[in-house]
Amino acid sequence: MSSRSISIDIEAAPQKASLAQTDGEAIIAAADVHKTYAGAGEPVHALRGVTLSVARGEMVTIMGPSGCGKTTLLNCLSGLETIERGEIFVEGRSIHDMPDTERTDHRARRMGFVFQFYNLLPVLSSVENVELPLLLAGVGQRESRDRAMQALENVGLKDWAGHRPAQLSGGQRQRVTIARALVNDPAIVWGDEPTGDLDSTNANQIMDLLEDLNQRNQQTFVIVTHDENIGRRANRTIHMRDGLIEGETIHRELRS
Ligand SMILES: Nc1ncnc2c1ncn2[C@@H]1O[C@H](COP(=O)(O)OP(=O)(O)OP(=O)(O)O)[C@@H](O)[C@H]1O
Ligand SMILES: [Mg+2]
Repeated sequence: MSSRSISIDIEAAPQKASLAQTDGEAIIAAADVHKTYAGAGEPVHALRGVTLSVARGEMVTIMGPSGCGKTTLLNCLSGLETIERGEIFVEGRSIHDMPDTERTDHRARRMGFVFQFYNLLPVLSSVENVELPLLLAGVGQRESRDRAMQALENVGLKDWAGHRPAQLSGGQRQRVTIARALVNDPAIVWGDEPTGDLDSTNANQIMDLLEDLNQRNQQTFVIVTHDENIGRRANRTIHMRDGLIEGETIHRELRS
């Protein structure tokens, strides 16, 4: 599967590291992003000047030791958290310069999240969980239900629409989360260890699904993982350490 695998040392080639794989449009472009958390003790400089770009339709994984800033990076790129310095453009727009309401709206319409802490609501069935973002966005009940059913079908869970999360396996639950993330047909899907709780068989099935969606719909995926086997299934892995990008590995070219 892997046609080429290269590593770029950011010390040796700071200009080349972490640029999008094609010369085409970068759907995400970040330059010199800094993020500090001020807590009770010493401030934590979680991002110390991150520069990267991701091409539309690319699947990128982000890897690095615990605490190196991966979740912080996703939160900053998606506009969930503010930044102190630097710039982030998503689909050509500077997300941190947008008014709050516009940023929230942009996120709801253009982004999907598969985060472990984005739990499913236990009292709702699969289809009710999946249709919730649509109902909240003001889509009518009938259309929301139809689209939620379609999204469940896309992840192979049509027959489990009426089940509640407690009646599903871990892998099935994560599929419901993915259906919910994708029901709005987002341009970008962010995943923070989407396979973290799953055994390797289930993890690979989830990755098959994400890969299929990525290729079928040209959606862009940015996925944090600790698992090398998951990491190398992307077009490219970005390696982080200590609040910085230290290099990248290209696994397969993005088809343009
Ligand atoms: N809300 C917060 N307040 C204070 N410090 C934080 C906060 N969130 C993260 N940090 C700190 O910022 C640094 C980066 O954290 P982050 O969660 O981004 O790491 P990570 O790479 O996702 O780690 P893991 O692989 O364990 O999930 C850590 O030192 C962490 O303690
Ligand atoms: Mg994390």
